[in-house]
Amino acid sequence: MKLSLWLRLPFSLLPLLAILVLLSCRATIRRTITSPANYDTAVTPSSSNPSLLRLASDDPYSETVVRNDVDALLSGKFPSSYPHASFIWRRSATALHRPEFRRSILNWWGNRLFQPEIMSNLTDLVKTPLDQHAGQSNPNHRYASCAVVGNSGILLKSNHGDLIDGHDFVIRLNNARIHGYHRNVGSKTNLSFINSNILHPCASRDGCFCHPYGEDVPIIIYICQAVHFLDYAVCNSSHKAPLLITDIRFDMLCNRIVKYYSLKRFTNLTGKSMEDWSKFHDEKMFHYSSGFQAVMLALGICDRVSVFGFGKSADSKHHYHTNQKEELDLHDYEAEYEFYRDLVERPKVIPFLQDSGFSVPPLVFYR
Ligand SMILES: *[C@@H]1O[C@H](CO)[C@@H](O)[C@H](O)[C@H]1NC(C)=O
Ligand SMILES: *[C@@H]1O[C@H](CO)[C@@H](O)[C@H](O)[C@H]1NC(C)=O
Ligand SMILES: *[C@@H]1O[C@H](CO)[C@@H](O)[C@H](O)[C@H]1NC(C)=O
Ligand SMILES: *[C@@H]1O[C@H](CO)[C@@H](O)[C@H](O)[C@H]1NC(C)=O
Repeated sequence: MKLSLWLRLPFSLLPLLAILVLLSCRATIRRTITSPANYDTAVTPSSSNPSLLRLASDDPYSETVVRNDVDALLSGKFPSSYPHASFIWRRSATALHRPEFRRSILNWWGNRLFQPEIMSNLTDLVKTPLDQHAGQSNPNHRYASCAVVGNSGILLKSNHGDLIDGHDFVIRLNNARIHGYHRNVGSKTNLSFINSNILHPCASRDGCFCHPYGEDVPIIIYICQAVHFLDYAVCNSSHKAPLLITDIRFDMLCNRIVKYYSLKRFTNLTGKSMEDWSKFHDEKMFHYSSGFQAVMLALGICDRVSVFGFGKSADSKHHYHTNQKEELDLHDYEAEYEFYRDLVERPKVIPFLQDSGFSVPPLVFYR
């Protein structure tokens, strides 16, 4: 009785925490930037060209912020941007000198290469460990059908619950609550996809409790800030189900694709030069959304992908489970929607993905 109350309480607070503490990657050092929606609208067409590809490949955030953090952590110090004494870090900081902490951060950072072929390795990197944990072995086989369930308010009144649960493998995002929403969002979860900012508050709970979908549901996190490896080191040892970290090569691929679409959309809508993009988007903050990476992951591990709860409409909330009104400025959702349109209609035009020789499985977006 007491235990279940304890377990329920933190999760009723999670959506709130998630917004307050940092829903999204890079939010800790977030500054105000001009909303992408505020472009002037003089339309000039743009097409893919070498400077667009080159600009899309720049990632000043990793080059500076992440590198400095990794260096500090590997030399046993807290990055200067994170006050060591902060109570939030008290528990995780104990991991600073653990060998598995150093090993995991080195493994991750050491793979920092642009290798779009990583798309073809996602089954090895993600599905194989999950199969091993579940005591199954069907190497090289992808999941027959996957549902990626986003958190958009368009899910409310959708009645998609049974349709979602009808998929072999259901992926949910950032610990969105499902209790009370089953009719619209389903009740089955096979993989919980979270960004490392969501793991952070979990790390300060007993047993690193981070399982709104049940303790047996595997979690995959993508690393927003290197300092979150401390949370990982604390949590990995106490989780029964796998706690996987996305490969940095996959992060890099996702980042380039989203930036490419954002640059393209920017020049098309404003008629300004691509170099001006960074006046509207803070390059150090710019990042793909969790939903984007979850869709990319599903492309790699599933034969057929259905996507729910992506997109918006004038009369629906940003998230089905919270009252957050606005999208976060650090994502360019419109650019991501343009990517999804290409993914469905003409995947061959998508740069970087196309270079990987990867063929995109059939994909359906449900409204
Ligand atoms: C530019 O925007 C217009 C209007 O939204 C669209 O029809 C066109 O396809 C876009 N061009 C490119 C190259 O994205
Ligand atoms: C995480 O935990 C699993 C299971 O205990 C272990 O096999 C794996 O090596 C750990 N990962 C790291 C990076 O320590
Ligand atoms: C990725 O797949 C290729 C081809 O199957 C293989 O040679 C390579 O070792 C794999 N890399 C990883 C990191 O799994
Ligand atoms: C997904 O989860 C359901 C319910 O927990 C389970 O029955 C099913 O076997 C899982 N599917 C896969 C492919 O692991």
